[in-house]
Amino acid sequence: MTELMLSTPDSLPADESTGHTNFGCFPESEQFSSQLAYQPAIDSRIKALLKQRQKLAEWVHCFGSPLNLLFPQIALENGKRWRGALSSTYPDTDIRFGMKACKSDALTTAYAIAGLGMDVSSWQELMSAMQSLVPCKRISFTGPDKPIRDLTTCIAHEIPINIDSECELNRVVSLKATVGTQARVVLRLLPANQPDSRFGLKAQDLLAAANQLAVSGIPLEGLSFHLSGYDSHERVEAATEALSLMRKLLSRGIISNSLSIGGGFSLSYLPKAASVGDADEIPTWQGRSRPSNYPYHTKVSGERHAAHIVKEILSRDSNQNIVDELKLKLILEPGRALTDQCGGTLFRVIGTKQAQNGVNLVVLDGMSFSLAENWFGSDFLPLPLHIPQTAEPEQGPAACVLVGRSCLECDVVRWRVVHFKSVPQPGDLIYLHNTAGYQMDMNESSFHRIELPQKLAVFFYDTQTICQLDTAVNAESFIAS
Ligand SMILES: Cc1ncc(COP(=O)(O)O)c(C=O)c1O
Repeated sequence: MTELMLSTPDSLPADESTGHTNFGCFPESEQFSSQLAYQPAIDSRIKALLKQRQKLAEWVHCFGSPLNLLFPQIALENGKRWRGALSSTYPDTDIRFGMKACKSDALTTAYAIAGLGMDVSSWQELMSAMQSLVPCKRISFTGPDKPIRDLTTCIAHEIPINIDSECELNRVVSLKATVGTQARVVLRLLPANQPDSRFGLKAQDLLAAANQLAVSGIPLEGLSFHLSGYDSHERVEAATEALSLMRKLLSRGIISNSLSIGGGFSLSYLPKAASVGDADEIPTWQGRSRPSNYPYHTKVSGERHAAHIVKEILSRDSNQNIVDELKLKLILEPGRALTDQCGGTLFRVIGTKQAQNGVNLVVLDGMSFSLAENWFGSDFLPLPLHIPQTAEPEQGPAACVLVGRSCLECDVVRWRVVHFKSVPQPGDLIYLHNTAGYQMDMNESSFHRIELPQKLAVFFYDTQTICQLDTAVNAESFIAS
């Protein structure tokens, strides 16, 4: 590999007024100012790390590109903050990280140390949760129609199974004779306001399933639901429906004690609301429309969004009454929102060329499979940051499109044009912030037989920043800090 020419870490200019760093963007240009609204909110420790160009280049040199960085100490802080906010809203709350959001052992361990449980949807996630210090009593197994191996593991370890269909219920009932332990069963509701969802049991089917459990001598632990949108009102309505079903069950002598209101709490990637709606107006490669279907800025996000929903649920007297009567345990399964500030992705620039329309195509050592938003027909809106490895020539603003290294026309990492201060050069780095929530690994692929990207856990100490392979992180990593 050719040796990189590295500039000093402190050469990156900082914007005094906002505290943000202008990563190669051209301050005077119109393009620069209009794209400023999309500058991501970045934790100050990560900002300082991003100035250490040489360290970052060395990590990418050692571990490959793209390189996913995880920040477990921030995950630990997030977990504690969520627990504080929710337990002061309703004391008997259990927060379980939706593990599908990020395949990081370091984050899982961090949340476990913070006292969070896990929402797992595969046997592999379950094994990883157990290895990462999560006690079985704080795990729920969600997902549709789980195979026998998954179900029997749950039964043996007394892990609640969220049943999605009658077929799955029959399977659990039939396993009673095979595994000596009693299954812990939660029935997933298909809320009346989500008629198009493929998950859960309609109210009538759920009542029938509860009867079947009673007949089979299997206790019903609780109900659950999950909504994929961010509408607080819909979630409050769904919880109200679930609680009224619990009351109905109680009147039939079926006592259940827990309700999971699922995940789907928002993460605010951008500090400002300004012009998020205008993102659809930004020119794109090939003029492709990339509607932003994620609310990248929300006034109330994360644990505050979740606490607001819980307050709204309990503000209805009929809900509060049944909650009190059943001494209900309330479960939340945030995925994406818990990963706020917990990760970022570094891509090495391989080369550039000018397209017919004058736009600079910046070829990254990586593929768009490493940015999940692409695969939902959208584009990850927060601005990518250019981290040059040499002193930047004053070229003026350069309109760039970030593309992947595969042979697919559609392998475009960022379809929207981004203006950098100069055209990124081979060996430079491009950083995408806040990618731990689904973005970095949900759709990763070994297309072209290229290995999957590595994950590096980064720990911030008083005087230094240290990295460790994600899979090597354990409780000791946190004690040392
Ligand atoms: C049952 C369940 N719980 C929790 C989640 C996590 O959702 P989010 O990452 O939006 O918080 C999901 C996501 O699909 C889910 O299906």
